[in-house]
Amino acid sequence: MATIIDGKKTALTLREESAAEVAEGVAAGRRPPGLAVILAGEDPASQVYVRNKEKACREAGIISFVHRLPASVSQRQLLALIGECNARADVDGILLQLPLPPGLDAQACLLAIDPSKDVDGFHPENVGRLSIGLPGFLPCTPAGVMELLKRYDLSPAGKKAVVVGRSNIVGKPLGMLLSRPGPYADATVTMCHSRTRDLAADCRAADFLFLAMGKPGFVTADMVKEGAVVIDVGISRTPHGLKGDADFEGVSVKASAITPVPGGVGPMTIALLLKNTVTAWKNRILYTGGSRQAPL
Ligand SMILES: NC(=O)c1ccc[n+]([C@@H]2O[C@H](COP(=O)([O-])OP(=O)(O)OC[C@H]3O[C@@H](n4cnc5c(N)ncnc54)[C@H](OP(=O)(O)O)[C@@H]3O)[C@@H](O)[C@H]2O)c1
Repeated sequence: MATIIDGKKTALTLREESAAEVAEGVAAGRRPPGLAVILAGEDPASQVYVRNKEKACREAGIISFVHRLPASVSQRQLLALIGECNARADVDGILLQLPLPPGLDAQACLLAIDPSKDVDGFHPENVGRLSIGLPGFLPCTPAGVMELLKRYDLSPAGKKAVVVGRSNIVGKPLGMLLSRPGPYADATVTMCHSRTRDLAADCRAADFLFLAMGKPGFVTADMVKEGAVVIDVGISRTPHGLKGDADFEGVSVKASAITPVPGGVGPMTIALLLKNTVTAWKNRILYTGGSRQAPL
């Protein structure tokens, strides 16, 4: 039976670490970190995510400024709000909750966010920094996966890692993080997608298998190498509750370590958002005294 990688517990540890850093800074007379959250429209899942983020910020001592906008908000109004958040000295991070209502251009909005406040790591400057190995904000879910590898001492160095999924927010950045030089990285990465000819064969070759497809129970035990580490990023709502991309019952017997769904990668995303916000805050207050051009 595989080691169950407890993302809930690990995320809690990370959140406590962020809270401790904030408390230390505030005790030293610094202002607390600020996170601006922009939510446009009434998407129920987004409303829940934003509420969870507000609560997590409160617990860590981060001030959240939540801007709830109607679905009818115009692109110009949204860009103007982003501009205001960029300029505010008490805002260290800006999070634009996606998806945006139809008719709004998410890419243009992400591009408008000051990269030094881009705590979601979606701005092309931060994506570019990741791709050429410069410091910058990492997208929260892939960074959460890397943190789990580190905290469970599971090193993919020199091993074959297979990432199933090539989205901009999970698969692609995860592939880049795994293949870059350094501890808990240095993997030989194969990236699979819906046009991959023999997915089962690629998965079976993986020492480390990362699943980010959004297809509940798709990867079965016969597609997994004996002793593989399986990190399941997928979360799908099914009649039987939240399910990952792996058929957990079967795969957990064959793998040496596996993340459950829920309670695996999911809780790490918010923990990394807080960590990125605290980093943005430290950059701002330590290096610039609050000015706009903080180093990343
Ligand atoms: N906090 C978290 O834990 C967190 C955060 C983000 C996402 N997620 C979850 O992670 C999953 C992926 O999210 P996402 O945003 O990356 O999804 P996405 O944008 O829909 O991407 C899914 C990827 O899976 C690939 N794929 C789909 N069916 C496939 C198949 N049969 N064989 C091989 N590849 C296949 C797609 O290939 P093509 O590119 O060819 O279409 C695509 O690259 C979802 O379940 C999502 O809910 C969790």
